Amino acid sequence: ARRVRVHHLQQAKERGEKITMLTAYDAATAAIMDAAGIDTLLVGDSIGNTMLGHATTLPVTLDDMVRAGRAVASVTQHAFVVVDLPFGTYEAGPEQALASAVRIMKETGASAVKLEGGRRSAAQIQAITSAGIPVVGHLGYTPQSENALGGPRVQGRGDDAAEELSQDALAVQEAGAVAVVLEMVPVEVAARITEFLAIPTIGIGAGPDVDGQVLVWTDMAGMTDWSPRFARRYAELGRVLGQAVTDFAAEVRTGAFPAPEHAFQQ
Ligand code: KIV
Ligand code: NA
Repeated sequence: ARRVRVHHLQQAKERGEKITMLTAYDAATAAIMDAAGIDTLLVGDSIGNTMLGHATTLPVTLDDMVRAGRAVASVTQHAFVVVDLPFGTYEAGPEQALASAVRIMKETGASAVKLEGGRRSAAQIQAITSAGIPVVGHLGYTPQSENALGGPRVQGRGDDAAEELSQDALAVQEAGAVAVVLEMVPVEVAARITEFLAIPTIGIGAGPDVDGQVLVWTDMAGMTDWSPRFARRYAELGRVLGQAVTDFAAEVRTGAFPAPEHAFQQ
């Protein structure tokens, strides 16, 4: 199948075709998702929580994102690959943001970068966009600001908060973003933003009335015991892997593994 490009995302919105996105952090799983026909892969800074053992996304570095982004992009033939700008690599201003985005694009082979924030990040989005690098915005619950937001909480509840969120969505679009992620936003607010924005919205915990859906792959595959309420578990991969490890260990201990077909004869 042909490579998903930035104009295909816009076309999808105009045709009412939903956009699919999953996170990916390595070559092994990205190859599976790409072959399965996912439209877009997000090398998310959720790699901090899911893969690197951090409690939050805050410790994730640009080096972490470059290494993961390169691994994902290198095996992806179809999907549009987006790499997150991690905390501390764009907030200082447009120059810092552009330098970080340029490094991602030069060193990974990804097609776009993503950063958090609306009006507060508009100058950064504009600077990166002006350099010919597509930007995806991220509004609602923004994990890099979890200390200010008081943890994972629905954002945009109530008329005033919904209006603030709408202003941020407009600012992201006007700054030149090609799409925007809406995280933990009430259904009605996400629907309204999706209707008045020309660019596609991709929801996570934002209900059905958005232009696409994204989930963290370890949540949707059931890798861990706990997953957030907004995620559906399409598999119980953690259980499958745990059973495989148990079986391997048992067979090594009994001598059932390796069998003759796993060994080389003289
Ligand atoms: O890092 C991430 O996984 C994300 C998605 C939740 C949108 O930003
Ligand atoms: Na992220």
